[in-house]
Amino acid sequence: MSAASPQSATASANPTAPLSEPFEWPAEGVTRAPYRLFSDPEIYALEQARIFRGPVWSFLCLEVEIPNPGDYRTTTVGEIPVVVTRHREGKIHALVNRCAHKGALVCLKKKDNVATLNCVYHAWNYELDGRLKGVAFRNGIRGHGGMPADFKVENHRLQPLKVEIFCGMVFGTFADDIGGVESYLGDEMANFIKRNLGRPLRVLGTHSQIIHNNWKLYAENLRDSYHATLLHTFYTTFKVNRLDMDGGIILSDRKWHHISFARRAKMTEAEEYAQSKVHSANYDSALEGPGLLEAWEEFDDGITHSIQTIFPNLCVQFTLNSLAIRFFAPRGVDKTELFWIYLGYERDSEEQSNMRVMQSNLTGAAGLVSLEDGCINEFVQRGTRTSPQSASFMEMGGRQVASEKQSRATETAVRGFWQGYRGIMGF
Ligand code: FES
Ligand SMILES: [Fe+2]
Repeated sequence: MSAASPQSATASANPTAPLSEPFEWPAEGVTRAPYRLFSDPEIYALEQARIFRGPVWSFLCLEVEIPNPGDYRTTTVGEIPVVVTRHREGKIHALVNRCAHKGALVCLKKKDNVATLNCVYHAWNYELDGRLKGVAFRNGIRGHGGMPADFKVENHRLQPLKVEIFCGMVFGTFADDIGGVESYLGDEMANFIKRNLGRPLRVLGTHSQIIHNNWKLYAENLRDSYHATLLHTFYTTFKVNRLDMDGGIILSDRKWHHISFARRAKMTEAEEYAQSKVHSANYDSALEGPGLLEAWEEFDDGITHSIQTIFPNLCVQFTLNSLAIRFFAPRGVDKTELFWIYLGYERDSEEQSNMRVMQSNLTGAAGLVSLEDGCINEFVQRGTRTSPQSASFMEMGGRQVASEKQSRATETAVRGFWQGYRGIMGF
C-alpha cells in the first residue's frame, strides 16, 4: 500500500480483532509517526500478532551460547516465552516455553544443561526437540485415575518454531510461508553481517537493562543517525563518531533493515588524547585512561563505526573494535528489556580480547551512550503519551525512503522502519 494513502486497520485481511478506534496514518506518510503508536495497548497487542507471530525472523540467541548437547537458553519472541535447545545429535530447536498440559513455563533458568525438559507442575517430561515423552501417573494409581485409554503422548508437544542459523545467530519464526533468513535480510544486509559475524565467535560478556519506553522508540533510536553527534557528546569529543566523518546509510530492499557506517580518519588518536587536551565546542577535556580509544583496523573497507538493524528488534554494532549485539524485547506498551552481548572472535589474541572489553565501555553499561539512549527514549515516551493524536516530524535529509551513501544527516532509516512497519501492520 502507498505510504501516502491512510488505511484503517479494520481494512486488513488479518484475522486479529480490529482496533476499537480506527487508526489513520497521517496523509504525509512515513515522515510522520503518530504518538498513539507508542502508548495504545490495543496496537501493542496487534503488534504481537502481526509482527512477532507474523512473517519476520526473530533473533533467538547465538549458537555459541548453547554449544553442547542438552544446553538450553530461554528468550522471548515479542512477549512469547521461547526456549532454544541443542539436541543430542547437535541440532538446534526452538520451542514455545509453555507446557502442553496447563501452560506453565517449562524451562525456568536463563541457561542450563539438561537431559530432558521437565515441567515442575505435574512433571510432564519432554525430549529436547519438544516431543512429549512421559506423563506422571498416566496409568493412574492402583488401577484408578490416570489418563483416558485413548490418550497418546504423540498428540502433545511443545510448540516448535521454524529455526535457521545465519553467521552463528539462531533465528526463529512462527510463519510457515516465509523464505530463508538470507532472503529476509537481502544481499547487502547479509553481506555486512558476514563481514562482522562470519567467523567463529566468542562471547566476552552480557548485560541487560530495562528501559521505560515502547519498543519502537528504541527501533527508531538505533536508526536515528541524526542524534548521535548531538546527544552523545562523548563520541563527538573523542571523534569516535561524528556526523562530519565520511559515512552514510544503506537501507535494505524492503527498507526495514539498515546499516549506518562511518570512517574514522585516523586510528592512532589515542596517543593524541594522552598528550594534549582535546577541545570540544564547550569545554576542554582529556581522558584519564586514553587506552579506551586504542584500536586496530580490522577490515580493509575503512569502516570504523557501524550500526546495523534487522527488523524487528535486533542490532549488530561495531564501534572501533567493540562488536556487540543488541536485542530489545517488548515487555509492555511502555517497557522494553534491552540485552547486550559483547563479542570477539575465537581467533583473537588475549590483547585483542582485552581491547574489545575495554572499548565496550564506549557504549555499554559503564559508558555514557547507552545511558543517554535509555534516558532519551523515556523522555519521548513521557512527552508523547498524553498526545496520541499528535505525530513526530521526520524530514531531515528529505522525505524519501532511500539509501544515502554520502551523509548521515538524515532520518531516512527511521522512515524506512515506519515503511516496513506500515506494511506488516496493514496501517
Ligand atoms: S502444567 Fe506442566 S505438567 Fe502440568
Ligand atoms: Fe544513541
